[in-house]
Order: sequence, then C-alpha cells, then structure tokens
Amino acid sequence: MSEPVIICASDDLVDGGNAVKFAVTGGTPAFVVRWNGTVYGYLNQCAHVGGPIDFEGQVLESSGKFLMCARHGAIYEPDTGKCVGGPCRGAKLVPVAVSEDAGAVRLCA
Ligand code: FES
Repeated sequence: MSEPVIICASDDLVDGGNAVKFAVTGGTPAFVVRWNGTVYGYLNQCAHVGGPIDFEGQVLESSGKFLMCARHGAIYEPDTGKCVGGPCRGAKLVPVAVSEDAGAVRLCA
C-alpha cells in the first residue's frame, strides 16, 4: 500500500483563507480549503460549466460563509459542496477525500 500523498502543510491553510490547489491522479485540478477549522477538498471544477472556481487561490466569498465561483458567482456550502445560489443551484462540487494529521494535509487513497 502506498503512502498517502501530502498536499500541503497544515499551516498553509489558514481558516477562511485561500485554498491550496493541487491535482488528483490523472491531473484533474483540485483544491483544499480550511473552513471552520476543518479541511475540505473538492475538484476545482465548477458545477456550472466546469472551469475552476478560484481566483488566484481565493475560493471563499467575502463573508467567509460560502465558496464562490469567480466566473459567474455560483455559491457553494463549504462543508457539503452543494450549490445554494447562482446558475447551478442544487448541483454539487465533486468532493476529494483528504485527511489532516501530524501537521500535514494528505490526499486519501
Ligand atoms: S463557471 Fe462557475 S458559476 Fe459559471
């Protein structure tokens, strides 16, 4: 069994701050973000037209309560990935299983 891939150091993810972008196996873009203390991972593909949701790593809107796509403003719940506003309401981001321990955020196999 291979070791889990380290995405970043825990300290790289400030609560409510920018995401860290990475690629899952096969090169699909993804990101991790810390929200209310917990790290969440999603493919960086908006449920609207599939492009990345971030703008230079920023994925949370100004209140810090929601993820927001920088393209056309789709709003997602950070903990579920469900779109609750905008052009793809009701759709979901694709979750990426991640874990955090010993000061590192890892991609789960
Ligand atoms: S691509 Fe995200 S809202 Fe349109």
